Amino acid sequence: MTFARNGWYCAALTAEVGDTPMARRILNQPIMLVRDAVGDVRAIGDRCPHRFAPLHQGVRDDDTIECPYHGLRFDLNGACVFNPHGQGRIPAAAHVPSYPVVERDGVIWLWPGDPDLADPNQITDLQLIDRGGRPPVSGYLMMPVDYRLVLDNLMDLSHAAYIHAGTLSPSRARRESQYDSDETSIRVHTQMRDVEAPSSQALYFGDPKGDYHSDIEWVFPGTLRQRLAMTDTDGDPDAGAVTRNAHLITPETETSTHYFWIHTRNRRTDDTAIDERTRTIITNAFRTEDEPMIAACQNYMDGAEFFSLQPLYLETDYAGTRCRRAIEKRIESEARRAAVREPEHVGAA
Ligand code: FES
Ligand SMILES: [Fe+2]
Repeated sequence: MTFARNGWYCAALTAEVGDTPMARRILNQPIMLVRDAVGDVRAIGDRCPHRFAPLHQGVRDDDTIECPYHGLRFDLNGACVFNPHGQGRIPAAAHVPSYPVVERDGVIWLWPGDPDLADPNQITDLQLIDRGGRPPVSGYLMMPVDYRLVLDNLMDLSHAAYIHAGTLSPSRARRESQYDSDETSIRVHTQMRDVEAPSSQALYFGDPKGDYHSDIEWVFPGTLRQRLAMTDTDGDPDAGAVTRNAHLITPETETSTHYFWIHTRNRRTDDTAIDERTRTIITNAFRTEDEPMIAACQNYMDGAEFFSLQPLYLETDYAGTRCRRAIEKRIESEARRAAVREPEHVGAA
């Protein structure tokens, strides 16, 4: 099993979901997302149980959707409410799954696992900087790689000094990192002293050089909170040009990943030219620097399980390795739980 299912994953950014149903595959499950009559986001299985047609391509009528293939109609709880054929009897199995969804911080959070366990209080606060009602700068990429390689990439930002040299990070700067962790989160604090401001930070940091502080935290299952600060050399690490970012990593399939990002900053917050420039710098870095490298690594792994290849362990791998192990533990405990529940299901069927 590749995924931990019992967790809140980002299914979409707020602006992506409207009145027209959209499809998104999450942890290999085809899901339809749409806003209902009162504007709440609803998520149901997108695969019709009859001949497996994509429901999101159907006709919407109030809070029902008509399957585009043979016209079964489903409500937004996933129940079939109309059968246009024969006597109109609705078979007991005529339903699709319904997924718990919460909209918060500009994110549509979705729980792909056991709905009984979904607790909205477990949704991670993204700790973004308030933009006074203006939406943050954000974006979405589909990466054709295993989500764990993306988490590795984010938990070991030493790569930034090489593949993002000058764009997102000072080039080849010496990094000092500290790590701490618990069961469901891992934090990496890094400082780079007296370095050139990377172009992403130079947009609103006045001096060409300073200290760069990079803090990133993974929270189960795929939420990363990041704080980046450029300060005066030897200045107060809590001052300076600060950005708070979120990277939301959601597996699409075993080998493809939804990557959502959100950026907020504390300086020149209403400068739309900086917003645009930031969007371009981040998109370029993820699309043309991270993605090709991660995809190339995946290609050379030839489908092998990561640890079976005995990857070299460097000091910078502490966080990425812990993250992989924490997810593995969750997957194992979900499998044990499912094994205990299985006989009940058999008995009930
Ligand atoms: S596939 Fe949906 S009604 Fe036939
Ligand atoms: Fe990167």
